Amino acid sequence: MAIVVEKNGRLFNLHTADSTYQMYADEYGVLLHTYYGKRIDGENLADLIFQVDVGFSGNPEETVGNREYSLDCLPQELPSDGVGDYRESCISLLHENGSMAADFRFESYEVFPGSYKVAGMPALYDSDGEKGETLVITMREKASSVVVRLCYGVFEKENVITRAVRVENRGESRVVLDKCLSCCLDLQFGEYDLITFAGRHTMERGPERNRVRRTKLEVGSMRGTSSHQYNPTAILCVPDATEDYGDCYGLCLVYSGNFTACAQMDQRGQTRVLMGINPEKFSFRLEKDDCFDAPQVILSYSDAGLSRLSWQYHRILREHMCRGKYQHAKRPVLLNNWEATYFHFNQEKLISLARQAAELGIEMLVLDDGWFGKRDDDNSGLGDWYANERKLGGSLKELGDQIHALGMKFGLWFEPEMISEDSDLYRAHPDWAITIPGREPNRGRNQLVVDMSRADVRAYLFERLSDILEHAPIDYVKWDMNRSICDIYSRQFAGDRTGEVYHRFVLGVYELMERIIQRFPDILLESCSGGGGRFDAAMLYYSPQIWCSDNTDAVNRLDIQYGTSFFYPASSVGAHVSAVPNHQTGRVTPFATRGHVALSGSFGYELDLNRITDEEKAMVREQIADFHKYYQLTHEGTYYRLTPPGGRFCAWEFVDEQRDHALQTLVMTSAESNPLPVHTTVKGLSPDKYYRCSADSQIRTGRTWMNAGLTLRKIPHEYESVLIEWSAVDE
Ligand code: GLA
Repeated sequence: MAIVVEKNGRLFNLHTADSTYQMYADEYGVLLHTYYGKRIDGENLADLIFQVDVGFSGNPEETVGNREYSLDCLPQELPSDGVGDYRESCISLLHENGSMAADFRFESYEVFPGSYKVAGMPALYDSDGEKGETLVITMREKASSVVVRLCYGVFEKENVITRAVRVENRGESRVVLDKCLSCCLDLQFGEYDLITFAGRHTMERGPERNRVRRTKLEVGSMRGTSSHQYNPTAILCVPDATEDYGDCYGLCLVYSGNFTACAQMDQRGQTRVLMGINPEKFSFRLEKDDCFDAPQVILSYSDAGLSRLSWQYHRILREHMCRGKYQHAKRPVLLNNWEATYFHFNQEKLISLARQAAELGIEMLVLDDGWFGKRDDDNSGLGDWYANERKLGGSLKELGDQIHALGMKFGLWFEPEMISEDSDLYRAHPDWAITIPGREPNRGRNQLVVDMSRADVRAYLFERLSDILEHAPIDYVKWDMNRSICDIYSRQFAGDRTGEVYHRFVLGVYELMERIIQRFPDILLESCSGGGGRFDAAMLYYSPQIWCSDNTDAVNRLDIQYGTSFFYPASSVGAHVSAVPNHQTGRVTPFATRGHVALSGSFGYELDLNRITDEEKAMVREQIADFHKYYQLTHEGTYYRLTPPGGRFCAWEFVDEQRDHALQTLVMTSAESNPLPVHTTVKGLSPDKYYRCSADSQIRTGRTWMNAGLTLRKIPHEYESVLIEWSAVDE
């Protein structure tokens, strides 16, 4: 059993293979967080809490006389707002009488086999390989009828603990939830760094590492999506943690909307980390018997550095979050026409691209933006999900059939959550856009956002999308979302319910995506938001791959894919070879390097294949052969980051499960005169096995390779790259 309950049902140990998470409901019913770290034997650790009388940290009524007991100092699972814990809280209530206090105490618990679900939202699910276990702890508010259910999931083998929160109003009077975060991690001892992932459109997910002190560290999104600017993931680690050393805690929010992640030391040097839906512009009204569900957070602990933490996330997301046919089925190598043609294509152009692609071994043509309504630039047409048959020279079915006849699959781009003011849909339903009456809305990419919180709007979109997908042979959908959301307002949830709209929008997106994948289970969905603006665990529930970034520059991609790799498996990272000079940066990189970088992801092309040289065409064939040869490694293997960004070269590696085969990619990022040697390390081999290295044909033991490394005989030029393989051989 991974979940062990003792001490009259008040001591909870959640054990995974290598970690333990412990909670204890004390005599006052406060649910203390007593331990999270390397696996222990489950003894009650509440006595590690050191209580003293701390000035200006008051005492709950039950403890009168005991000035040492203060909610303001205790490590807790559900720190609540307004009753004496002055630190950042998890939950805030506004009662009908105007009071703003929340004081939750332990009531009961329940343990059951299998994983819990979160209503309306993605969550880790059980597979044949591993089933989770669930602990639900019920907490009751002291002076009202609000009940909170804290759901904990344990995936023992995967070293993963999850938490989600459900709030129920069991009373007659209305309650407004002003804040409801998903998780609180209180660590009493130790100093920590917080690593977050920040960036901007086309430059996403760069790690930033800061020491947690009394000044609050906080990142988040208020853009309606998880955002390019901050990712809903964070790592808390000891200050000397490296890839291979040190205690690390990961937090990964399964949510695609506004979020917050913050960490702060309290007055006594304890660290509190919180994560959940951003409380800014959030409130949720709960009438009698209404419930609210806060999204799941996936926690994982590694006592051996950041790499192991990443592997735990790669596995859990690949095996228990990604779903459907393409969770494990081989993804087709695709050609996307976006950077090849932008909006300017016709049937002839598309077919010539597809023909050339098929000849080179590419397996799918994806028709990106511009195939519908009146859409020859990005100022019009969104919402009019009817094929522009004049532009396509026929129906989508005819086009799809022609592409299929070439032996290729056919994919199509949509942006269902958006509407252009210059569209028939907007002219018919201006109220379907999110705007505030009497106020001119902000435009992003000159478009407005569809009110996905409305069931009637979603029903329309479902019918429209289904109609297209049913009547044309479509194998893949790229689901895009190309602006941040503001002017938040919904005609259906107006007045004091406006605080619900951002969240209801996200729930609406999930509902529509779910309906589409249920109705069309054979379609491969790739999600996208201007590249990586919605790269989060929740999206992986619907789409096993996400377009990682609108930046296809192979050198910028090194940093973007590096940052992405801390939580997300390479199989989820959409990566394409594009033309040079690169359209985003103007940089010229070798064709081979572009291929090597894209091979570490869901591989494809995004350029006009009719304009490349014969030599490059030969390289496309080789790259595709490499894609097939290394597929198992890159999509299921163990991933090693070998160099931090900013060095002279960037290297990373995949190793297969049996440790018979390792593949390293090394890209030179700068050139120098009279160059120093390029010496690279190799990780993950089996110490006693013998391996031949493809770079120098030497055979050495794994131990020797890992300790001594490899010196390249020829130093690659700037932006050149090499693939190096280590293959196990008989001695
Ligand atoms: C976004 C996507 C691109 C492309 C364009 C089309 O920016 O990230 O890949 O699909 O939209 O407008």
